Amino acid sequence: MFWRHNNLARRYMFAALVAAIVPLLVIAFLYDRYSVRLIDTISRSRTEGEVQAVAVRMGSFLRAQLNRLENIADLPETAQFLASDHPVMSDTLYDFLLLEADSPDVYAIELYSMEERLLATVPQTQSPPPVQDATTPFVSFEQADVIGPVLPPNGLPGWFMIRLPVSVNRAELGYVVMRLRLNSLTEKMGPLILTGIKSPQLVVFDRIHLNAAGHRVAAGSVLHSSNPILPGWHLDLVALTDKLNDRRQALRLTLLILSFALVLALGLLFFQLSNRLTGYLRPLKEGADALSRGDFSANVPENGPGELGSLARAFNHMRRHLRDMINSRVDIERRAALGNMAAGIAHEVRNPLATIAATVYGLKRGETSPERVEMYDEMSGEIERVDRAIEEFLKYARPSTPKREPVLVRDTFRGLRTLTSAQVLERNITLNLGGDSQLELMIDPAHLRQILLNLILNAIQAVPDGGLISLKVLHLCGATVLTVEDNGAGMDGATLDKVMRPFFTTRSGGSGLGLAVTAELTRANGGYIHIDSTPGTGTTVTLTFPDPPREAPE
Ligand SMILES: Nc1ncnc2c1ncn2[C@@H]1O[C@H](COP(=O)(O)OP(=O)(O)O)[C@@H](O)[C@H]1O
Ligand SMILES: [Mg+2]
Repeated sequence: MFWRHNNLARRYMFAALVAAIVPLLVIAFLYDRYSVRLIDTISRSRTEGEVQAVAVRMGSFLRAQLNRLENIADLPETAQFLASDHPVMSDTLYDFLLLEADSPDVYAIELYSMEERLLATVPQTQSPPPVQDATTPFVSFEQADVIGPVLPPNGLPGWFMIRLPVSVNRAELGYVVMRLRLNSLTEKMGPLILTGIKSPQLVVFDRIHLNAAGHRVAAGSVLHSSNPILPGWHLDLVALTDKLNDRRQALRLTLLILSFALVLALGLLFFQLSNRLTGYLRPLKEGADALSRGDFSANVPENGPGELGSLARAFNHMRRHLRDMINSRVDIERRAALGNMAAGIAHEVRNPLATIAATVYGLKRGETSPERVEMYDEMSGEIERVDRAIEEFLKYARPSTPKREPVLVRDTFRGLRTLTSAQVLERNITLNLGGDSQLELMIDPAHLRQILLNLILNAIQAVPDGGLISLKVLHLCGATVLTVEDNGAGMDGATLDKVMRPFFTTRSGGSGLGLAVTAELTRANGGYIHIDSTPGTGTTVTLTFPDPPREAPE
């Protein structure tokens, strides 16, 4: 489950994720809505304006053509020509008409009788126009009419015409007609084309739809319509497809998918991070649990990043400190109990023992039977043994206060070699002395002898015949370091853990007090003891006595 174990790290991560993503989504949503509406509004009003502008331009094009027609109609030669029964065109009129017709927008200028009979065409090379029929649109445009558009079925370009009546004194004489290229009008819609998306159409009476090329096309879905250009004529802007919208939708969809992917990726990232955080925190919790069970050995890994690493280090520091504090407390209480016990033993056991020894001695002196004398001797020997054991115990329980003085360590070494030489020689053991022969140590000389004697005796007991024992003294990093090394049996971890405890021994006849006394005296003289041992390889006992702090010069 996501929330299992009341996982705070995960909850914080999730809260941070929500806090980051929700405003992002809200802003994105608002932006999306607002921008879509804005784009719609802007594009609609812009295209609307463009459509109207094009319609106005087309209207003025027609107006310009009408002006030209009016100029022709106002010419006296035109009226003369139309009024005569056998009209012959004067050169002046011909030149004028030719000038007016000389435009790419104009196919021809034609003159008609009132009966709509074609009287003249300028330029003359113009082929006779295809005749319009009853379905041809017809609208009035001021005093004129606009007829058309006409789209020849054979695919020839389409045309339309403006027809203006010519009258003199209100008597109508005929018509001047300008036949215009349909393209000239429709191509004005060109700027409205948005290829494949929007297309303009010229719509005449809602039945003829023409594109910018002047071709007939089907009606489409109208986006905008212009005001009428002529009665029944207007412009439509038609959406060909919803491609623009499609494209915008596709873009929005892509953005939407991207945002979701982002949210998903962020979620995964946060999940991963929270997992890692939990991974770093778990050993801390387990360490605290172990501590509460009284296990002071559980070390928490300190490789976490940043604050987690320092938290782990602080935790380990606290654990060690707590352990030392508890140990020293226990030590003080143990020591007090031992002192009382030692006093009791000294008084309650030693004194009667002395009486027994004296009595046995007296009995032995008065005895004549050699067997009994031997028995008394044996008794005396046992009493002496008990007394020695008590003596050693008292040394441990009530160590004398050290009287420290400078001691040349090598001298002590030599003295001890002499003391143990009988055993060493007998078992063919090599006892080496090494290190700095001039080194002096501030220590109680009796304590140093006792400490080293205990270690040498242990080493002698541990090595086989022909074994090797080395004593060494060195000065290293502000401390005097003494080592007693042997190539004897060594110890396994379980034994090593217990050797300093009083009365722990693996030897029959051993008191188990040797190392306890050694450790006690070392500590009393300001040193530390450390034992390294490998079963089958040997043991090294290291004693470290830090230099006393130098007195600051006055
Ligand atoms: N140098 C050593 N090599 C192997 N074992 C040792 C050595 N020193 C001490 N020991 C182990 O530690 C135990 C306790 O030693 P110690 O306190 O001197 O008591 P004891 O010598 O009376 O047994 C020994 O019984 C022995 O098992
Ligand atoms: Mg011993």
